Amino acid sequence: MSAMCALLASCGSSSTDASADMSAPVDASMKADIDELAELETPDMVSKPDLGDNMTITQSELLHKSPEDCGSCHEVHLEDWSGSMHAYATKDPIFVAMLQKGIKETEGKLDQFCIQCHAPVASKLGDTPVVEDSGVHQMPLDRTIPIVEHGVVCTTCHATTSVEATLNAEFTLEQGAVLYGPSGSDAANEAHVSAGFGEVKSSSLLTQSLVCGSCHNVVNPKGALLENTFSEWYAGPFNTGDPSSDKSCQDCHMPLVEDEVVKGSTRMMRRHTFVGVDLALIDDFPQKDRQLKLVEELLQQAADLKLQRVNTVNTGIALRVDVKNINNGHALPSGSTADRQVWVHVEVFDQHGELVFESGMMDENGDLMDRVDGHSVTPDGDPDLLMYGSLLFDEEGHHVNFPWQASRSQDFLLQPGQTGWREFRIEPEHLDGVTSVMVRATLNYRTFPPFLIQQLKDEGFLGQDEVPTRVPVVEMATRTISFSL
Ligand code: HEC
Ligand code: HEC
Ligand code: HEC
Ligand code: HEC
Ligand code: HEC
Repeated sequence: MSAMCALLASCGSSSTDASADMSAPVDASMKADIDELAELETPDMVSKPDLGDNMTITQSELLHKSPEDCGSCHEVHLEDWSGSMHAYATKDPIFVAMLQKGIKETEGKLDQFCIQCHAPVASKLGDTPVVEDSGVHQMPLDRTIPIVEHGVVCTTCHATTSVEATLNAEFTLEQGAVLYGPSGSDAANEAHVSAGFGEVKSSSLLTQSLVCGSCHNVVNPKGALLENTFSEWYAGPFNTGDPSSDKSCQDCHMPLVEDEVVKGSTRMMRRHTFVGVDLALIDDFPQKDRQLKLVEELLQQAADLKLQRVNTVNTGIALRVDVKNINNGHALPSGSTADRQVWVHVEVFDQHGELVFESGMMDENGDLMDRVDGHSVTPDGDPDLLMYGSLLFDEEGHHVNFPWQASRSQDFLLQPGQTGWREFRIEPEHLDGVTSVMVRATLNYRTFPPFLIQQLKDEGFLGQDEVPTRVPVVEMATRTISFSL
């Protein structure tokens, strides 16, 4: 079995029973395969001379440094990162609500599983314990500790020495007071040592997608594949070994720019905005306008939408919509695909502007009618819906909404370069008196469906006004055609 195959739920069964220890490691054969991959790519560290006497800071003190401490010199990095989803990872009210629900439902067995990626340094240093109070388990996040409050902090990536496996936060943090950068320059080392921030060494790991891989692949303790971004990239067209066409996660999500690497010193550096698809939903989060603009820009170049009329055997109308995943290093959508929705809204208007056909519309709650019970008030109301995402199932094959409940996932994603399409038919009986039509197809992206947010609110894990139930919809592309009948 290849390393890639091992990460796909369909080619390696690794489900365990419901009572299994939630902190149990993933299937051993799966891990062995992934280890092989990690071993293959883990780079050598280039050591600097030992500066023993100058090291006045312990490893724990260095790892506990807040991004704000780094920002006193790296102002631009701090600003970029502050508006990124890495900074949002534990501020995110939907994550926190799911975390508490999961800890409660599993009676604490979920333990560090979620937080090990959403506040990785804090989790590894033991700052995020589960507590039990009269039989009820929860994880009180102590937000006075900066590395709990700030999620995926600077030291996460900059103190990583190696990636053991490309899933479930299987990376190792440095044991000494050392940070890693792409160059390990004398200037960096001297500045850090004299400011009491330990040493700086170089690590080529930071220049590879591998450093992102330990978190951007998620398999839950029951063996369900929840996120597969790294593996999609690994098997994709941007990782063929041809340097002229290959692109790393960093190339697309940390573009090179000329800016101030430290106050007063400008050179080429990496943007730390980590733009993806997600939008911060809380008021108290910096640069939300910039985030929306960057997300729109990214999504609007990520798909090619085609709309055409095709011949029919009868007198109705047949339309074909094609969606192609382009300029993208992995699937569309990717990441937490059980939450993400990419779908096509098709509207057909007659010569009077009256709607004669529609698919991809929302129900009264804003939900899409995806034929899954519990998602929409009219689950069967849109038999033609063209949507991409994934579904989660428990051991009995029942559909579930939350990541820790699943023992299996089934996805409907567009891999890089792949085209998906559907034909929409409008039968002649719906076209009485229609002489011409205008057709509009819109490709939409949404990060969460309303039913999921509503459920967390109804169960008291999320405040009614904490986040809107209907999150913004981003239009990725739109096409129109008109013709006479
Ligand atoms: C998710 C991982 C990650 C986080 C979090 C992160 N960085 Fe980085 N950083 C990188 C990577 C990867 C590079 C190098 C990329 C390359 O050169 O190919 C880098 C490069 C740098 C550099 C060298 C100059 C440059 O930008 O190329 C500095 C300085 C830096 N980071 C500071 C910070 C600070 C300060 C924070 C927190 C505010 C931070 N980083 C958070 C991954 C991260
Ligand atoms: C006292 C100022 C200061 C503080 C505080 C500081 N740095 Fe730096 N750092 C520097 C200087 C100066 C450089 C060298 C800049 C250059 O490459 O031109 C540097 C370089 C770096 C590099 C790039 C190293 C390389 O290999 O190229 C990284 C990564 C980095 N710092 C991360 C951090 C992180 C993370 C923190 C907080 C824990 C931090 N720094 C705190 C001054 C500082
Ligand atoms: C220690 C774990 C960890 C590592 C390492 C990591 N990430 Fe992330 N990343 C996360 C988490 C957790 C989130 C989601 C936070 C949230 O929204 O709650 C995230 C979110 C993102 C997003 C935003 C996705 C969206 O939907 O908008 C991008 C882009 C991203 N990461 C890119 C990277 C890149 C590139 C690297 C490597 C340089 C990297 N990450 C390394 C944990 C990690
Ligand atoms: C060729 C450019 C490119 C490369 C390489 C790339 N991405 Fe992306 N990424 C995109 C685009 C475009 C989107 C928005 C469309 C989408 O969601 O797929 C995106 C979205 C994302 C998201 C949000 C996905 C979602 O739908 O919720 C995450 C997380 C992410 N990328 C992480 C990564 C990681 C980690 C890597 C490396 C393993 C990587 N990306 C490599 C272009 C790229
Ligand atoms: C192996 C690392 C990892 C683990 C373990 C993990 N996550 Fe995540 N999580 C991520 C990454 C990476 C993303 C970003 C993916 C994207 O944007 O599509 C993410 C995104 C999310 C999001 C969407 C963020 C938002 O608000 O848009 C939620 C919610 C979430 N995770 C909840 C959980 C819960 C609950 C658990 C535990 C059952 C969990 N995660 C375990 C890495 C992890």
